[in-house]
Amino acid sequence: MKVLVTGGAGFIGSHLVDALANKHEVVVLDNLEPQVHTQKPNYLNEGTCRMVRAN
Ligand SMILES: NC(=O)c1ccc[n+]([C@@H]2O[C@H](COP(=O)([O-])OP(=O)(O)OC[C@H]3O[C@@H](n4cnc5c(N)ncnc54)[C@H](O)[C@@H]3O)[C@@H](O)[C@H]2O)c1
Repeated sequence: MKVLVTGGAGFIGSHLVDALANKHEVVVLDNLEPQVHTQKPNYLNEGTCRMVRAN
């Protein structure tokens, strides 16, 4: 199944992505809010999901 996780780079969303990614095709939509993200989330480099940057 294809799953879209909004805010998927955040605390709750990233755990949701971890739980879904081994069985589903996951796309994250996140604007990487500067107040939340001082650096790029590590797991986005691991190829577990596709990241779409919202503006
Ligand atoms: N225990 C811990 O280490 C820890 C760490 C962080 C948060 N928390 C708790 O987790 C809860 C919050 O977690 P959360 O996942 O809801 O918040 P979050 O801030 O971690 O994640 C929200 C995500 O949504 C994204 N976002 C915000 N506006 C957006 C927009 N307009 N379009 C697209 N993406 C957007 C942000 O960039 C972020 O990645 C709170 O209860 C907090 O206390 C705990």
